Amino acid sequence: MRSVYQRLPRPFIAAAPMDDITDTAFRRVLRQASAPDLMYTEFAWVKGLCSSKPTRSRDRLRFHPEERPLIAQLWGRDPEAFERAAAVAEQLGFDGVDINMGCSVRKVLKRGAGAGLIATPELAAAIISAARRGAPSLPLSVKTRLGLTEPRVAEWCGFLLRQDLAALCVHARTAAQGYGGDADWEAINEVLALRDRLAPETVIVGNGDLASAGSALQLHPRYPVDGFMIGRAMLQSPFALSRGPEASQRAVEVSGLELYRRHITLHRETWRERRSAGVLKRFVRTYLAGAPEYAELRRALLLSRDHDDMLALISRAQTQQNPPLPA
Ligand SMILES: Cc1cc2nc3c(=O)[nH]c(=O)nc-3n(C[C@H](O)[C@H](O)[C@H](O)COP(=O)(O)O)c2cc1C
Repeated sequence: MRSVYQRLPRPFIAAAPMDDITDTAFRRVLRQASAPDLMYTEFAWVKGLCSSKPTRSRDRLRFHPEERPLIAQLWGRDPEAFERAAAVAEQLGFDGVDINMGCSVRKVLKRGAGAGLIATPELAAAIISAARRGAPSLPLSVKTRLGLTEPRVAEWCGFLLRQDLAALCVHARTAAQGYGGDADWEAINEVLALRDRLAPETVIVGNGDLASAGSALQLHPRYPVDGFMIGRAMLQSPFALSRGPEASQRAVEVSGLELYRRHITLHRETWRERRSAGVLKRFVRTYLAGAPEYAELRRALLLSRDHDDMLALISRAQTQQNPPLPA
């Protein structure tokens, strides 16, 4: 059977994995608002997936079929745990497994995981082989950065391209940069040239500072990647991942207020007490940015206590907008 990457349009638009942001609830909203071609889970710790207990890592792999195509992203540093975790992802029905070799959060780097693996290529290769053994029927990809402290495109990305990956996603910064400075898209073109030479079958996904699907597609002649991955712009607008004119069309069909209501409802249904409603406050500006009539509502939502509180505030605002007709 053809892998998910062969079925996607070119260039495809992918929603980046984002911890505490792209959970199953937000992905369902994104599917409705933006219809991205591909989505990823938040990163899930491989050791947490080795237990059959309901761990936080298991939570990160929860999904609804409407989110597919969907890739499970894994992080850690123990090849054996990667093998078992990849098997779990295969069993759960994901469309692919992605290994995180790009996370620059201190807690992850300190353990030698995420972008820390850039310093230990032999271990990185062992992890790739182990994940492949665990999920032999799924396409395997790596998401990484240009290097640890300095860009090492030929050395590091070249090394990864020799591992027979289905896809390689590159966030065009070093780990030391975190999110500072500009993403170096010329380096993505270097990755493309390496790919053509070393691994013509490997799909290249470019990531870093893209403002929307529309602006990414305009960059395609200069940076002819197979796919664009968009992260933080999703927090600016749930429509950011829609292609061209579709974006404004969707925005007319469904209001930010209605999407926020759906997000909160799905979040409450999915997580109940397992995840607090507090994370939903990050989305106040995502759904209600810029609209002066929502200034009061935005403030009230930021002070709200729980899901019910948030939903009541939104209902009240919707009633004020569309008062019931007199009997
Ligand atoms: C809050 C937050 C959480 C993130 N979580 C993950 C993650 O779980 N896995 C991952 O590979 N990258 C993660 N990233 C990195 C993004 O996937 C992406 O590579 C980065 O934000 C650059 O893309 P952008 O400029 O479009 O945001 C995260 C980024 C942010 C801001």
